Amino acid sequence: MAQFNDPRLPPEPGRIATDRTPWLAAPRVFSVRGDRLHPIISGNKWFKLRAWLMLAHQQSVRHLVSVGGPYSNHLHALAYAGHVLGLATTGWVRGPAPKHLSPTLVDCQGWGMALNFIDREHYRQRETAEFAEWACRGLESAMFIPEGGWSPEAIDGSSAWWRLAGVDLDALICPVGSGTTLAGLVRSAPQSTRVIGVPVYRDPDHYATLIEKLAAAGVDAGQYTLWTGFAGRGFGRLSAEQRGFMADFEQRENIALDPVYTAKTFHALQHCLSFDSDLREQRLGILHTGGLQGRRSQIGL
Ligand SMILES: Cc1ncc(COP(=O)(O)O)c(C=O)c1O
Repeated sequence: MAQFNDPRLPPEPGRIATDRTPWLAAPRVFSVRGDRLHPIISGNKWFKLRAWLMLAHQQSVRHLVSVGGPYSNHLHALAYAGHVLGLATTGWVRGPAPKHLSPTLVDCQGWGMALNFIDREHYRQRETAEFAEWACRGLESAMFIPEGGWSPEAIDGSSAWWRLAGVDLDALICPVGSGTTLAGLVRSAPQSTRVIGVPVYRDPDHYATLIEKLAAAGVDAGQYTLWTGFAGRGFGRLSAEQRGFMADFEQRENIALDPVYTAKTFHALQHCLSFDSDLREQRLGILHTGGLQGRRSQIGL
């Protein structure tokens, strides 16, 4: 396998320097610029994926298999990493085979990823061991990577965010999908910094599954705060207010956001700043977790 210090990959976490941008409209708020880490494997993707790639290397795996939607940042980053490292990749994609592939999937295919489409019913089982086994069936020396990269190693890898964020913050805010990033941040947070997560999907069970999953990874509910109520119209879908915020923010701050994760998270912070005067007094960091390739889909816009 090619080396992890290949110049086509992002730098090693140990060599990442603090990179923050103050908000013009709220100078005590810093965007932690994961979007600047790398043009393709940006934001949290590298911190999570690197752990899986190391594992694949140790186990002499030759084929990486995963699952995601047609605009998945995860499949996009995996296909690219596989291409650079000389590993075969297969992506199981939610939904029927489309007439025209999304720009995300066109890139994946260009980097050699084999694409297979599965119906939504089957996709719902993606977190089971049976699905992982089924997805790798017939593939030689294959390893399944769950959507979102959730694993103890990826949680540990996500602690690398603190190198970008610095340690002089009262609170650090991040989007929550699988919760891997939140778990990694909480585990390695400086004592004086609170971690706040913004789930980007609706959950009628009040995020009980997420909270249980985090607890099973040793992250107790008392160690973080969830700002719920900012999922908009659902995963990948913005409300009119969020859409308006995204356009204004991008123009004012000159920072591009993605419609799935960062637009919702940045909007949540701006909303909370508008009524919480204590919060306005604090030094706050907010993760820009990248995902800008997903803008091409214009989902929810
Ligand atoms: C751009 C972006 N931000 C945030 C997240 C959510 O991170 P996590 O799944 O670790 O909660 C993801 C998903 O991996 C993502 O692609």
